[in-house]
Amino acid sequence: MENIDWNNLGFGYVKTDYNIRCTYKNGEWGELEVSNSEYFPMHIAATAIHYGQESFEGLKAFRGKDGKIRIFRMDENARRMQDSSDGTLMPRLPIEKFEEAVLKAVKLNERFVPPYESGASLYIRPVMFGTGAEVGVKPAKEYMFILFVTPVGPYFKGGFQATPFVIMREYDRSAPLGMGKYKVGGNYAASLVAGKKAHELGYSNVFYLDAKEKKYIDECGAANFFGIKGNSYVTPESTSILPSITNKSLMVLAEEFGLKVERRHIQVEELATFEEAGACGTAAVISPIERIDDYDKNITYKLTKNGKPGPVCEKLYNRLRAIQYGDEPDKYGWVTILD
Ligand code: PLP
Ligand code: COI
Repeated sequence: MENIDWNNLGFGYVKTDYNIRCTYKNGEWGELEVSNSEYFPMHIAATAIHYGQESFEGLKAFRGKDGKIRIFRMDENARRMQDSSDGTLMPRLPIEKFEEAVLKAVKLNERFVPPYESGASLYIRPVMFGTGAEVGVKPAKEYMFILFVTPVGPYFKGGFQATPFVIMREYDRSAPLGMGKYKVGGNYAASLVAGKKAHELGYSNVFYLDAKEKKYIDECGAANFFGIKGNSYVTPESTSILPSITNKSLMVLAEEFGLKVERRHIQVEELATFEEAGACGTAAVISPIERIDDYDKNITYKLTKNGKPGPVCEKLYNRLRAIQYGDEPDKYGWVTILD
């Protein structure tokens, strides 16, 4: 712990002091338990490890200039985890229990919340999975919810810098009537091969199109997409993307800046008309997109001038961060300050 280099943290796992657990048995969730172990025993026939009955979340806590710790929109993550439960036939964890677990874990690991000046944050990772034994494909009768925290720096190397993305039609991440709208592990397993290829080709991430027609923009690996065109903030409407809480927040901030928010289908070719674009998410914050290469068609869509983040991306990024770190008032009630 004493050796953490706050200014040079990547997006990886750092051991912290405590995690929170809660088990579901006999039709109900138990009490939250605090653990200092990084492990737990699991049945060899647990549905999570055979049939992928699991979901997870990602949110962050920030230390402000005033030393206070702020957690961003945890009620939204709690709700989205309930949606993921509905989509995987797992029991819903009550919103209050989710929030209590977040607050408890951050409080107990307060010394791991990075200092304000570092620009780093504490990533909060709730995860839920079927622990009950089944061999047939059916939902488990028992579940476990675990929440751990870990200090993180930027998801993409270099932080707020423009990086290149790639369209590769040979891979899909999720189907239009499938699981893409839920935050379930299988979607990420489904993205590993494409992600590896993209990295090997020198791209920071895969840029997915809709799986059915390969005509419309879906999202960018583990982040939503937005483009800036004239006075508009344009973001995809799709049934196969995760409803990003960051994107939802940026839409509000974009309107605050006088931009028109358009949520609609975006054809791939429309990329040529955007002046700026970004990938947005809890981990990605706003990662400006330098260019998108259409690998199959040998077309490049340039989305920056001189490879530098554009002014609208920068303004949105600064405003979002200012709310999260408490530099500007929490006008929308997005922030929970830890006691
Ligand atoms: N899309 C995917 C596939 C993600 O994994 C994430 C990360 O959570 C996002 C989008 C961004 O969502 P949020 O802003 O809620 O973190
Ligand atoms: C997030 O932004 O919280 C994510 O879940 C992205 C990724 C690390 C899976």
